Amino acid sequence: MTQHKSEVNPIWACRGFPAFPVALVGVGNAKDNSDCNVMTVVLVHMFSFDPPVIGIGVSPCRYTYDLLNKYEDFTINIPGKELVEETLFCGQKCGREVNKFEECGFTLVPGKKVGAPVIDECLVNLECRKKQVLDVGDHFWFLGDVVHAESVDGEIREKALLYWGGEFRLIGNCIRKR
Ligand SMILES: Cc1cc2nc3c(=O)[nH]c(=O)nc-3n(C[C@H](O)[C@H](O)[C@H](O)COP(=O)(O)O)c2cc1C
Repeated sequence: MTQHKSEVNPIWACRGFPAFPVALVGVGNAKDNSDCNVMTVVLVHMFSFDPPVIGIGVSPCRYTYDLLNKYEDFTINIPGKELVEETLFCGQKCGREVNKFEECGFTLVPGKKVGAPVIDECLVNLECRKKQVLDVGDHFWFLGDVVHAESVDGEIREKALLYWGGEFRLIGNCIRKR
């Protein structure tokens, strides 16, 4: 059955995406506690499985953008629903003005293989070494080799926070397996 469609603004059309995973990015050097910051991103995606490469889209107006350029590594941390308030906070406050680690009560620890801070309170911690930066428009994509990863036991997908269009969600029902 053909459905009637009208031309719409592409940005508006993209609002039709149901939701994406949301992540907390850790930057700076946690080994000597310099420039450590954490920022919320919904623009996060896997770019390669082998080798594992993951990317984050960051606007150049973010403080985190400056830090991602300054340092050679960063972490991507997947929060569960119990961190929804902290995730919103880290997406609304600027690290130039507030210490988001302190405000959120996050433990400041470096990664096992990188100097950037991991957020231990998250379900998954991915330690990334900067590989490539793509200038694609109003966000730059920072791609990193995942050099170390840690995860809690069990099914992460059921617990990981999703976000789009102003709404935080959890995953819905699986309706078919491949
Ligand atoms: C749920 C959510 C998702 C966000 N996703 C992104 C994103 O993918 N890229 C981006 O540049 N900013 C994103 N932001 C906005 C930044 O997280 C926000 O501007 C933050 O305060 C920047 O922190 P900083 O100044 O410490 O770097 C998002 C905000 C929220 C609340």
